Amino acid sequence: MSHAISDDALDTIFRTARTQNKWSDAPLSEALLMAVYDLMRWGPTSANSCPARFVFVTSDAAKARLAPHLSEGNREKTMAAPAVAIIGYDLDFPETLPKLFPNNPKMKDVFGSNPQLTETTAFRNSSLQGAYFIIAARALGLDCGPMSGFNNAGVDAEFFAGTNIKSNFICAIGHGDPAGVFPRNPRLSFDEACKIV
Ligand SMILES: Cc1cc2nc3c(=O)[nH]c(=O)nc-3n(C[C@H](O)[C@H](O)[C@H](O)COP(=O)(O)O)c2cc1C
Repeated sequence: MSHAISDDALDTIFRTARTQNKWSDAPLSEALLMAVYDLMRWGPTSANSCPARFVFVTSDAAKARLAPHLSEGNREKTMAAPAVAIIGYDLDFPETLPKLFPNNPKMKDVFGSNPQLTETTAFRNSSLQGAYFIIAARALGLDCGPMSGFNNAGVDAEFFAGTNIKSNFICAIGHGDPAGVFPRNPRLSFDEACKIV
């Protein structure tokens, strides 16, 4: 247990952290966005594939490009956030494996010959990286509002044209306004969700 983090820290990243729907006007520095990436990138991925790619939407012009692709219920709150991360996955991630996984030079070809494995690996690991992103942002004192209610094809055409990157989910980030937080819903108990065999 010597490396366990404090109870306060556990509250910050899990127990008292809440999904946000309203945001304070406080601006978010680029340095802080970079610090979130710098922390979350150390989370593990299979074959160290690191398939997630991030677009931070912060300017009014970029938000206007995102807005038409959001579901109606997500639009207003997303536009009010100081930053929105589009978390995507790059189907060309095998190209980076010679650098990221030099201990097995054959790995690039393993994926290259198997598009289904490439897709599954990219989606699974970018989802994990999206979760690392939320935890890292919370650990650095930020709040998050993750959302999947948007038109993926529209976002991909607008932000990832000419690439093999596909959107996974988006995540508003900033300092939340507690007035917008919904009542906390329960979670499954250990017995409902787990088995020790
Ligand atoms: C991947 C993902 C997608 C989500 N999509 C939406 C969404 O489209 N719209 C929305 O209002 N909330 C969305 N949520 C928010 C969840 O409903 C919320 O995180 C969950 O109910 C837990 O809330 P809590 O963190 O306040 O306990 C999403 C959350 C995640 C993790």
